[in-house]
Amino acid sequence: MRAVDEDIVGYIVGESKPYSASIVSSRPLMLGEYVEIRYNGIHVIGLVQASISGSYVIDETLSPEDLRRVINIHRGDETTIYYRGYIKILGDPEDLRIPPTPPPPGIEVRRASRKTLSKIFSPEGPQWARIGTLLRNPDVEVRVDLNKVVQRHLAILAMTGMGKSNLVSLLAREILRRGGTCFIFDYHGEYTGLSFQGLPKPNVIKARINPRYLSWQELARIIGVRYGAKNQENIIKKCKDEVDYSSNGGRSYLDQMISCAKREGQLSRRSEIAKASEAVIESIEANRGFLQRIIDDEAKDITEQSVIGTINVIDLTGLASSSQADAVVSHWLGRILEERKSAIWRGSSKIPHPVVTVLEEAHIYLSTERETLTKPRAEHIAREGRKFGVGLIVVSQRPRGLDPDVLSQMGSMAVMRIVQPEDQAHIARASETLTQEILEQLPGLNVGEAILLGHWVRMPAVVKVDHVVEKTSGVDIDAVSEWISSKRHDNTDNRGNAYKR
Ligand SMILES: Nc1ncnc2c1ncn2[C@@H]1O[C@H](COP(=O)(O)OP(=O)(O)OP(=O)(O)O)[C@@H](O)[C@H]1O
Ligand SMILES: [Mg+2]
Repeated sequence: MRAVDEDIVGYIVGESKPYSASIVSSRPLMLGEYVEIRYNGIHVIGLVQASISGSYVIDETLSPEDLRRVINIHRGDETTIYYRGYIKILGDPEDLRIPPTPPPPGIEVRRASRKTLSKIFSPEGPQWARIGTLLRNPDVEVRVDLNKVVQRHLAILAMTGMGKSNLVSLLAREILRRGGTCFIFDYHGEYTGLSFQGLPKPNVIKARINPRYLSWQELARIIGVRYGAKNQENIIKKCKDEVDYSSNGGRSYLDQMISCAKREGQLSRRSEIAKASEAVIESIEANRGFLQRIIDDEAKDITEQSVIGTINVIDLTGLASSSQADAVVSHWLGRILEERKSAIWRGSSKIPHPVVTVLEEAHIYLSTERETLTKPRAEHIAREGRKFGVGLIVVSQRPRGLDPDVLSQMGSMAVMRIVQPEDQAHIARASETLTQEILEQLPGLNVGEAILLGHWVRMPAVVKVDHVVEKTSGVDIDAVSEWISSKRHDNTDNRGNAYKR
């Protein structure tokens, strides 16, 4: 009997709704704590979304002297303190439906049992991958549905250093364990060393592309022609058509482009075309060293550089600008989707199984502020990827910079600490599941703590994400230890001549 009483955390008070209720409790409630409520044959789970405490006797209108007296009299007397909470009712534990009637006042609210929580958050089946544990119930595993990541996509959003890339690494490991394939667009080169014991090593791909496989827009961005510079774009378009289908006569692709652009300028009577021709040639010449590194007439199609059943890391660190990275990412996403369409429609493809693509620093490619080549591709994948087995994970520490159309297509979210109200509001506008109450919790989260929402979980989950120790790159640098260690080496050198010159 006593054990049951200890599970009671409080009672329903005031006016409730089928999806929310207030409670008065005998102990402080923890944000993110789950409770169970039973009434009129209904059984529901609730999530504590606000926790308030106050005193019946310590009044803010008291003078400092009176306050001191009151505090002395009531010191240690728990009965003078009250705790209140606001609960979001998530639904019944079986089919997660919101009840038809609200819980009436006076009904007991119990701490959710481990059994109930495990049934909700740790379903069985190969698509369910462990991601961590409930923040307030560390004995309950939280598993996410990887099928839903492919079918409905995912956004991972948080301030810098809060654990986004750690979560990406964890998901990549779980996909790899199941024989799946990922493509990570690695803007900072932090995944190239990611390696899990007993699993295939990552396939690191330097951005090297055969220009013949690029669209003219992609080639224009890589060469450095600005978006909307119409005359220059027309020259690129025309010359690309010509050079793609001509025999090279021993000359490089870039040299052929220069000859063609030069001719276009000379043939035209319009001075703006002559200027545009010069500008195109100048762009190619100015970037030649860099262009030679990524443009390769002999390179195979990118899908032939991919390995199925591994983490393919597309290393974007060698690229000179974000618009070049945009062109490369757009090209990859376009080719991946084409190959998946071919797998479904024709039954033959270089990418025969569903894949997950990960866009780190997604605000660069899916910007609210400017047009990019990746945006329409990502929208296409977000809308149709589920039919062809292409999942998209967008990762960003600047959510307000993310295109709202793409963001609203992301069926699931992992949101970690975010304090900027603008970022919070932008995510809330794009998401049906992110309520004001959840937003208010975001500043209180610590590193590795996340709120999981949407299709990939059965109910919103407040989680401590597992730490992936294999991901060593991207960790915060301990500068002081490095300095001390280097100083020790220097000292040895000075005193003991440990190093030969
Ligand atoms: N779940 C976790 N448990 C413990 N430590 C973690 C966890 N997640 C991340 N960390 C640590 O926090 C630091 C930052 O993590 P991570 O690189 O994943 O953050 P991020 O959000 O991707 O940052 P950035 O915005 O700079 O890309 C790392 O040192 C990492 O080891
Ligand atoms: Mg990161």
